[in-house]
Amino acid sequence: MSKLPLILLLLALSGHVLAGPDGKALYIEHCSACHHTRGEGGIGLPLTKDTLSSMTDSYLRKSIYYGRPGRVMPALPALSDAQSKAIIKYLRESTGSKPAVYSSHQVKGQPGAGKALYEEHCVKCHAADGTGQGAGTGVTLSRERSFLVMPPAISNAGFLASASDEMMKHVILHGRVKQDMPAFANKLSDQDIHDVIAYIRSLNISAVTPPPLDSDERPTHVIESPYDFNTTVKNLQQAIEGANFRIFPPRYLEQGLVDEFSVNKRQIGIRFCNFDKLYGMLKIEPRLGTVLPCRITVMELEDGKVILVVPNLRVIARLFNNDELVELWDEMEESLTDLTDEATL
Ligand code: HEC
Ligand code: HEC
Repeated sequence: MSKLPLILLLLALSGHVLAGPDGKALYIEHCSACHHTRGEGGIGLPLTKDTLSSMTDSYLRKSIYYGRPGRVMPALPALSDAQSKAIIKYLRESTGSKPAVYSSHQVKGQPGAGKALYEEHCVKCHAADGTGQGAGTGVTLSRERSFLVMPPAISNAGFLASASDEMMKHVILHGRVKQDMPAFANKLSDQDIHDVIAYIRSLNISAVTPPPLDSDERPTHVIESPYDFNTTVKNLQQAIEGANFRIFPPRYLEQGLVDEFSVNKRQIGIRFCNFDKLYGMLKIEPRLGTVLPCRITVMELEDGKVILVVPNLRVIARLFNNDELVELWDEMEESLTDLTDEATL
């Protein structure tokens, strides 16, 4: 595809043409490859009503801005303030979550005492240096469908710059039990928790930062279809079957979020897979989750344009800093390009 229409489309998506940035389109473009279209997580942590309710808007804004250097979550400083606010508004509205409110009070703790507690209670999941590479149960997660959640890096400079002490304290007290982060309210005293936080802050790891993305690189490709919505979906399904992928029942993006009569039937996720390739990838990198590389979203925009949103595997693979993975994903990227070419020819 030539660059110009893509740029025009991206401009439209990012709101230079529409009135005000469209938070949903921005979320799909910049976040859904990892956090999924309904925020269930996958490579990224779940952004659900539950978890979002423990986050302030400022935490979200800073997380988008700083990312998690050296981890998979990219920094997206190129998003304007208005764009990142639109994404946050979309997350709030689509999940019905209210921003958390915490005091900006900084806890007073003893890092030395915190270290011992950290080693006793946290190391097995968050690792000795807080990089989240521990052997904890956070890797497996039984939910409606089994996604993988890696314990996040809590000593990461991007996390520490985004989270206030009081937010950390809240998460430690109440846990995120569905995702296997235990609640410590009955195990640790307030002072213990302050000590642990002081210890985590003292780690403040800035791991090697992967090279920043070029300004025109996105974690997704957005491709305009010359056909109407139904024809595009049909073409795509045929192309996928023709390429011998196993195809799953499609899901509307809003399925399960709103009642069945209000679901927008013009936004659909087509999921498919090649199990051999998928297992190969998961062996190399369990954080990949199960659905990511094989989902193409078809959306009809308000002006009637039909677009396909496809993960940009080359960009995502690079964030993992793993050459083996890059090779496999290059192959997968070729299959995705063939499929979308065939569906939009
Ligand atoms: C059994 C594994 C496990 C143990 C033990 C554990 N955690 Fe976690 N922790 C997790 C997982 C998984 C998450 C991600 C949950 C989510 O956000 O969905 C998490 C999230 C967090 C977060 C929020 C980070 C973020 O990016 O939002 C903090 C802070 C945290 N843990 C601190 C601690 C501390 C301090 C201890 C020890 C007192 C501890 N954890 C023990 C698994 C664990
Ligand atoms: C390439 C994958 C990827 C993309 C793209 C991505 N994230 Fe993330 N995100 C992650 C991962 C992985 C984590 C967990 C951090 C860690 O590993 O320590 C995360 C963590 C987060 C957190 C912290 C969650 C918590 O429980 O505290 C927020 C908030 C977040 N992402 C929001 C976003 C938003 C909004 C976007 C789009 C603007 C986005 N992310 C794009 C992978 C991604």
